[in-house]
Amino acid sequence: MDSTNFLNYINKGYETSGDSIILGAAMLDGETIPDAHIKIPLKTLNRHGLIAGATGTGKTKTLQVLAENLSDNGIPVLMMDIKGDLSGIAEPGEVKPFITERHAKINIPYTTKGFPVELMSLSEQDGVRLRATVSEFGPVLFSRILDLNDTQSGVISVIFKYCSDHTMTLVDLKDIKKAIQYITEEGKAEIEKEYGRISTSSTGSILRKIVELEQQGADVFFGETSFDINDLMRIDENGNGYINIIRLTDIQDKPKLFSTFMLSLLTKIYNRLPEQGDSGRPELVIFIDEAHLIFNQASKTLLDQIENIVKLIRSKGVGLFFVTQNPTDVPNGVLSQLGLKIQHALRAFTANDRKAIKMTAENYPISEYYKTDEIITQLGTGEALITALNEKGIPTPLAATMLRTPMSRMDILTPDEISAVNSKSKLVRKYKDTIETESAFEVLTKRTEASEQAAAQQEAQKQEEKQQKTTRSSDSGSGQIQKSVLKVVTSATFIKGAMNLLTKLFKK
Ligand SMILES: Nc1ncnc2c1ncn2[C@@H]1O[C@H](COP(=O)(O)OP(=O)(O)O)[C@@H](O)[C@H]1O
Ligand SMILES: [Mg+2]
Repeated sequence: MDSTNFLNYINKGYETSGDSIILGAAMLDGETIPDAHIKIPLKTLNRHGLIAGATGTGKTKTLQVLAENLSDNGIPVLMMDIKGDLSGIAEPGEVKPFITERHAKINIPYTTKGFPVELMSLSEQDGVRLRATVSEFGPVLFSRILDLNDTQSGVISVIFKYCSDHTMTLVDLKDIKKAIQYITEEGKAEIEKEYGRISTSSTGSILRKIVELEQQGADVFFGETSFDINDLMRIDENGNGYINIIRLTDIQDKPKLFSTFMLSLLTKIYNRLPEQGDSGRPELVIFIDEAHLIFNQASKTLLDQIENIVKLIRSKGVGLFFVTQNPTDVPNGVLSQLGLKIQHALRAFTANDRKAIKMTAENYPISEYYKTDEIITQLGTGEALITALNEKGIPTPLAATMLRTPMSRMDILTPDEISAVNSKSKLVRKYKDTIETESAFEVLTKRTEASEQAAAQQEAQKQEEKQQKTTRSSDSGSGQIQKSVLKVVTSATFIKGAMNLLTKLFKK
């Protein structure tokens, strides 16, 4: 086929007037056309995207290329690193013959560079600790995370309302558990008077679901100091956007915790960022590598919520990129909203594979230059079919692309390098310690104590009255002795009450 026509076709289709990122050069009939550069306008990077393809085809490196170029343009990035292979972005790459050959083919000089990085964690792993408070979720979202039914969600709403009416904060899971216990026991009458009847079967189910979440390590995630999302938006002294890497290797098998975190993060970003208008560039771009892990075990309500936020967050200048093996891993409602699509090779081993490839191909623009379903299986490593949105929001021509190589290291950091990143991080210090404030747990515990003390006193009083009656009716001569016995009895009752209380407290 005519490569000059093709070059013109690509150059015209990928023409930009504002800032853009060059991902590589288009290929035709297996040959790379050096100057057929695939340029993605920065302006459209809040329109979300997908990077798909079989294992080992180059998805993570494509993510790395995109992230580096965003950072280079002063745009901060957040990456979910599930397999732990993204930390190398902090160090410059190494010039190697296969890389310079690749870059000669696409006519882009190969330079190496390390980027400003923060390493973050949801657990006790080293790095910036990410936490959120229960209050921040609000009753609706908190109920969704627990996958509660309407009645149960109603109970959660009452608890949030009660705590807010009585200026108690819900910081961690201990707080909400204490509040649930309180409304079913000593606070029952008070709550029912104010907010109506609460079913104890509901509170039982809610508690069980909270325990389930706790077992996935969420007790470490909920707490103070809550993460301020403005700390994701930093630019370093050279004008490079920070690349924030959340290391999730230790929560791979905890999908509930992961989706809870994702949802809290997206909601926070949505609530805190101002409406963006048409600023010409994104404020933050989020990449989720191995994205099927959040979608796989998420409940229907949670998926709906994610879908909703994905739709809304765009107007805040936030782009979300999903990286996954098969496009079908991503829910349809999300898929239909993606602006940039990068499809690496898929393998056609089984009839099912072939069906999936056909379906994938149908989701790409028709091209007179390619047989899409065939080319998907023929792409080499670090090559992909790309379609983006141009500055007018119209899909660009489909282009089989030879991608550039990341400027930074295509491997992980050593443990020493990780320590070095963490020890110079201001954020690590800022979020290091869990702060115990007086929240619902402490307030309600005090209340329980007080009411138990009152009960003990009442009991003591009763005893006293009883004793007095017997004293009066018996020999008045031994009154003195009786009185001191009474004192002993009274304080014994009181101590018994207090002991009960203490054992209760220590059991928690
Ligand atoms: N753009 C690229 N330039 C050079 N090498 C690449 C590129 N993309 C992928 N590779 C090579 O392919 C290997 C696998 O890529 P990776 O991104 O980890 O695959 P995936 O995430 O799809 O499993 C990399 O370690 C690297 O050697
Ligand atoms: Mg990968």
